[in-house]
Amino acid sequence: MNRQTVGTLYGIGVGPGDPELLTLKAYRLLRELSLVYVPVARPGAPSYARTIVEAYLDPSRQQIVELVFAMREDHERMAEQWRINARRIADELVAGRDVGFLTEGDPLLYSTFVHVVTVLTDICPDVAVIVVPGVSSVQAAAAAVRVPLADRDERLAILPATYECTGLQTALATFDTVVLLKVASVIDRVLDLLEEVGLIDHAVYVSRVGWPEERLVHDVRSLRGQKLDYFSLLIIRSKR
Ligand SMILES: C[S@@+](CC[C@H](N)C(=O)[O-])C[C@H]1O[C@@H](n2cnc3c(N)ncnc32)[C@H](O)[C@@H]1O
Repeated sequence: MNRQTVGTLYGIGVGPGDPELLTLKAYRLLRELSLVYVPVARPGAPSYARTIVEAYLDPSRQQIVELVFAMREDHERMAEQWRINARRIADELVAGRDVGFLTEGDPLLYSTFVHVVTVLTDICPDVAVIVVPGVSSVQAAAAAVRVPLADRDERLAILPATYECTGLQTALATFDTVVLLKVASVIDRVLDLLEEVGLIDHAVYVSRVGWPEERLVHDVRSLRGQKLDYFSLLIIRSKR
């Protein structure tokens, strides 16, 4: 394969929701690239990442292509989708085209992009991949509630709340600040644990940060039993 003719894959972080929370590099690439892939959960479903940057894309001169990545499928089914989508991207790269792949938040933080690149570089080891970092939901949420993530010698942990409870308990005992992503489906269990370890009054809930429907909740007890948005997280800071 001739290295010169292979295109570049740009993994572009578009931030967590506010279209102004974008790097200048992401903005330039979004306007320049002629082919941009957007992840969707099912065919025709809205793409969270695309919605954030819709105003910067121009479908009259750019090809905006949906790639389906069904969430909550079994691992084999998800791996199959990574392979299929990586193959489609590889075909364009090998044909010499530069392409973008949008990711909400940052491309290297709990993102489908990581899986796609892993498979893609197996298929096509010569491909150039450039990651354009994005503002993650963690940083944007901390800014929205003005809670420091870490200071001086403090330690910060970011983990999915679906992590089993003993793991969460250890993290809460070990780190000064813990950010729990994917908290919506397990909120009652997490609130029980926070009560148990005496940290319930140290937690703050943020959902859809940067979106018009952004929600900031300081009395997290009030969340018990509620059906929460998937795009929500908790920041638990043991110090005040
Ligand atoms: C698959 S992870 C994606 C993380 C993303 N790559 C990032 O850098 O923020 C999805 C989880 O991130 C968090 N998340 C993403 N966007 C968010 C937002 N706008 N507001 C609050 N939490 C968000 C939620 O915890 C959600 O369950």
